[in-house]
Amino acid sequence: MILKNKKILITGASSGIGQAIAMACAQKRATVIINYRKNLKGAKQTLEEVEKHSKGFIFQADLTNEKQIQKMFTGIANKTGKIDILVNNAGDAQPGDFFNNQNWQDQFENIFFSALHTSQKFLGQNKKSPLRKILNITSYYGTIGGGNPEFFAYSVAKAALASMTVALAKTDGKILVNAVAPGYTWTPPWEGISVAEKKICEAKVMINRYVTANEIAHAVVSILENNAITGQIITVDGGLSLQKLEKK
Ligand SMILES: NC(=O)c1ccc[n+]([C@@H]2O[C@H](COP(=O)([O-])OP(=O)(O)OC[C@H]3O[C@@H](n4cnc5c(N)ncnc54)[C@H](OP(=O)(O)O)[C@@H]3O)[C@@H](O)[C@H]2O)c1
Repeated sequence: MILKNKKILITGASSGIGQAIAMACAQKRATVIINYRKNLKGAKQTLEEVEKHSKGFIFQADLTNEKQIQKMFTGIANKTGKIDILVNNAGDAQPGDFFNNQNWQDQFENIFFSALHTSQKFLGQNKKSPLRKILNITSYYGTIGGGNPEFFAYSVAKAALASMTVALAKTDGKILVNAVAPGYTWTPPWEGISVAEKKICEAKVMINRYVTANEIAHAVVSILENNAITGQIITVDGGLSLQKLEKK
């Protein structure tokens, strides 16, 4: 699929990976619809970068609120017409153990139900389109074997999103659905960690460094351009999942 002039909604595009995906899509001359929740300044920065290459629009919505999702889709339809591609990127990773029921509730709302409800609204519009695409940002923690008990609900909610990716891809060959599962990727949430903690994370990765947001964005764009990939979870983790062996 040529992304030029395609309308792409990227959720959580005010920061980090979503911002990088927005910029990569703009470089392909797509029309980029930037969703944000609280960070208007970040959304405006994304728009400024997008407009160096293409057209862009900003829409605020907290995606844990179905009414706000509906309002966003109505606003988008009025402004640009129906969208072609949805990138479900928005999400906050919150630590919590197995017994923390508030954390289960919050993370399923923030990671899974937000993407489910946004996808439902997206698929409810533009039904006559010959080809539509959804790209979900999951996580290495949501892969089989990658679950992290310190981020219990987050890991399981991302695994649910990965499972939804595969099941939804089986419903209709005119809706291609894939996921990119990042490993440790250097974005604002990591900026608070100490040098020692950063070194511990880097030591687990084959490439000995964090993945960049641009590397995730390039994987996303390659998948969106390809019309033969569907139902896949592509892990982009620098080899974190390879369980690097201790050097002797
Ligand atoms: N960085 C990593 O190491 C890593 C690894 C695996 C997976 N991921 C996934 O990658 C995605 C992006 O993460 P990031 O590292 O780029 O973090 P980030 O810089 O904190 O960006 C998160 C984005 O999600 C938005 N967001 C969160 N909850 C939202 C909601 N309820 N409604 C609308 N927008 C919401 C935020 O919007 P506002 O700031 O405007 O509120 C922000 O734009 C997340 O799904 C995350 O789980 C990241």
